[in-house]
Amino acid sequence: MKSGFLDKLIERLGRIGPEDVQNYLLQLAQEKGLIETVFNAIQEGIIVTDANGRITYVNDAACELFGLEADTSIGKRLDERVRGLDWKSLSQSQGAISRDMEIFYPANRFLNFYIVPLLIERRMPKDGASNHAGPVGHAIILRDITESRRSTEKTIESERFNALTLLAAGVAHEIGNPLNSLHIHLQLMERKVRKLDGKVKEELQEAIAISRAEITRLDSIVTQFLQAIRPSKPLLHPENVNAIVEEALRFFAPEIQDRDIVVEAELRPDLPLIEIDRDQIKQAFYNVIKNSFEAMKRRGIQRIRTDLDATHVNISFTDTGGGMSAESLSRVFEPYFTTKSTGSGLGLLIVRRIVREHGGEMAIESNEGKGLTLTIRLPYLDKRVRMLEAGDLRAEGGGRKAETR
Ligand SMILES: Nc1ncnc2c1ncn2[C@@H]1O[C@H](COP(=O)(O)OP(=O)(O)OP(=O)(O)O)[C@@H](O)[C@H]1O
Ligand SMILES: [Mg+2]
Repeated sequence: MKSGFLDKLIERLGRIGPEDVQNYLLQLAQEKGLIETVFNAIQEGIIVTDANGRITYVNDAACELFGLEADTSIGKRLDERVRGLDWKSLSQSQGAISRDMEIFYPANRFLNFYIVPLLIERRMPKDGASNHAGPVGHAIILRDITESRRSTEKTIESERFNALTLLAAGVAHEIGNPLNSLHIHLQLMERKVRKLDGKVKEELQEAIAISRAEITRLDSIVTQFLQAIRPSKPLLHPENVNAIVEEALRFFAPEIQDRDIVVEAELRPDLPLIEIDRDQIKQAFYNVIKNSFEAMKRRGIQRIRTDLDATHVNISFTDTGGGMSAESLSRVFEPYFTTKSTGSGLGLLIVRRIVREHGGEMAIESNEGKGLTLTIRLPYLDKRVRMLEAGDLRAEGGGRKAETR
C-alpha cells in the first residue's frame, strides 16, 4: 500500500497550522466516505484485518455472506466471528492466496476467498531506501461462487446419470436374449408335457404357464425400460389427434367391456392437424388410459376431451379411480415409482418423455378419493423460425423475413 499522501502529511506536520490539519482531516474523511460507499455498492465481500487478525473494516456484502454486523465486528478477531475459518494458515502466506470454501451459516454457500497481505513501504530515515516490515494486515475479497459450483455439480451428476443409463441399457438389452431362449425352451417343454397324462401333466402345465407369464412380464419391463431411457427422435407427420384417441380406445375395447367402464369422449371436431409421431403419441395415450383403468378397476367413467387454445391442442383424460395422494403425486415421475404389485413404474415417465420430445407439456390434477385428470398439451404452432436465404427475399418491403410456421 502506498502511503505517499499520509507520509508527506506526517513529514510536514510540524509546519502546518491547526486550520490546515482540519482541512486535511476533512479531505481524508471525505475520501474514506467515498471508498466506503464504493465498497458497499460492490457485490464482492471485502474484509480488512490488522496484523493480529482483528477486523478493521467489513463491507455490506461480507456482512451478508457471514451474517455479521459491521458495528459489532470491528475490533473482533475474524476467526472468532467466522467460526471454522483456519485464519492461521490462511494468513501465513507471504503472497496473495485464493481458496474455495463452503460456509453453512447464515446460508449454505460456496465462497472464494482471495487474501492479500497488506504491506506498507517504510522509508529508512537515513538513506531514504524503502523496505517492508511484514504485513500490517490482510485484505480479503470474497466472491459467492455457489451458482457456478452448483451448475458444475449438476453437469457431473448428469454425466454420471448418462453413463449409468448407458450401462443399464446394455444390461437390459442383454437380458433380452436369455429371455427369448427361456421362452423357446418352455414351448418345447409344453409340447412334451402335452403327451403326459394325469396329475403330473396338470401340475407341470400350471408351472409352465406361470413361468411363461413371468417371462412375458420381465420382457415387458425390459422393453418399457429401454423405451423410457433411450430417447428416440419422433418421426413427425401431420396427424389428427382425435383419430389417435379413437384408435387407442379401439385397442381397449375388450377391456372396457370386461371392466364395465363407461367412456365419454368429447372430441372437438375442428382440431388442426399437428406434427406428431403417431406411434409415440398412441403409446402415451395408451399408458395414461391404462393407468385410469387400473385405478378404477371396475365400473368407472373415463372421460376424454380434446380441445384447442391459441397455441396448443389439449387432450385431457379424467377418471373416477380415486386419484392419488399428494405424496404419490410428487413421486409419479420417479423411475420405478409404483403402487401396483405388478407395475414397472415407468409408464408416466415414458409419457412425459414423449410429450417433452414433441415440445409439449403435461399436468396431473388429483382429487384424492374421487379421481384424476391428466392433461397433455401439444403445440400446433411451431415456434421455430427459418431465416430465408438472400435469394428468397420477397417483394414486400424487400426486407429479410423470418418465417414462422
Ligand atoms: N389415473 C390414476 N389414478 C390414480 N393413480 C395413478 C393414476 N395414474 C398413475 N397413478 C399412480 O402413479 C403410479 C405411477 O404410474 P406409472 O404409470 O408411471 O407406473 P405404473 O402404472 O405403476 O406401472 P406401469 O405403467 O409401468 O405398468 C402408479 O403406480 C399409481 O400409483
Ligand atoms: Mg402405468
